[in-house]
Amino acid sequence: MTDPASGQARATGATPDPEGRREPIVELERLRFCWHAGAAPVLEIETLRVERGERVFIEGPSGSGKSTLLSLLAGVIVPQQGTLQVSGARLDAMSGSARDRHRADHIGYIFQLFNLIPYLSMIENVTLPCRFSARREAHARARSGTAQAEALRLLAHLGMGDSGLRARPVTGLSVGQQQRVAAARALIGGPSLVIADEPTSSLDAAHREAFLQLLFRECTQAGSTLVFVSHDCSLATLFGRTLHLSAINRAWRCDAGAGIGSAS
Ligand SMILES: Nc1ncnc2c1ncn2[C@@H]1O[C@H](COP(=O)(O)OP(=O)(O)OP(=O)(O)O)[C@@H](O)[C@H]1O
Ligand SMILES: [Mg+2]
Repeated sequence: MTDPASGQARATGATPDPEGRREPIVELERLRFCWHAGAAPVLEIETLRVERGERVFIEGPSGSGKSTLLSLLAGVIVPQQGTLQVSGARLDAMSGSARDRHRADHIGYIFQLFNLIPYLSMIENVTLPCRFSARREAHARARSGTAQAEALRLLAHLGMGDSGLRARPVTGLSVGQQQRVAAARALIGGPSLVIADEPTSSLDAAHREAFLQLLFRECTQAGSTLVFVSHDCSLATLFGRTLHLSAINRAWRCDAGAGIGSAS
């Protein structure tokens, strides 16, 4: 596959090494993370590897560290110990500004709380990553001519193509509609890693299916790897692999979340 942004051949991960392993997009070793100095760790993971093109489903009780892990993969926060490599970069050894640039180029993030920008229009929200990343702008142009046209294409596939809907302020959209705008924003420009934090929790069954179809199709076409968190375990069968965070996170004590995790 050719990367439209660079014109260079892009590894699709389709060719395994002699051990049958493809290029890693996420590789972490002996990772330890605490939110505050001196506090108990929230995450202690010995090893985790996600290969290019994989679709990984992550599940775990509320408070077990799913969103924290995703923030680490996006380089929003860094571990106090261990190594963390994402899309070829050692995030644990990079400055904050270098991580910001890396995130703009390589990560599409669908936040648990969407994080749409209230004073921007729907299209401006979706094309925002292209303003921060020439690489993603080039990819969007190669796909649809302009970033705006690519935003319209993605939104139409998510059932958000109605011009009346697009004219509304994003704060005037339903929660499920905001979630779909957030998804289009994450997908634009073909990021190498798409991170989705409970992206279907506000969607009805029909929109959930359209949403997942779009997510899978766009990730496949762009060669993107997908890491997807959800409490809805019925979705796990649609993914290549399921990670049970409470099983790989040594810092998670089930007694700490008892009665809370089961409720969400
Ligand atoms: N910004 C923060 N500052 C301090 N502690 C935090 C912060 N964010 C999360 N935590 C704590 O880290 C732990 C893991 O939280 P996290 O949000 O990663 O869980 P989660 O598995 O995503 O839960 P949920 O399923 O409810 O979204 C919790 O104990 C939480 O209180
Ligand atoms: Mg969470």
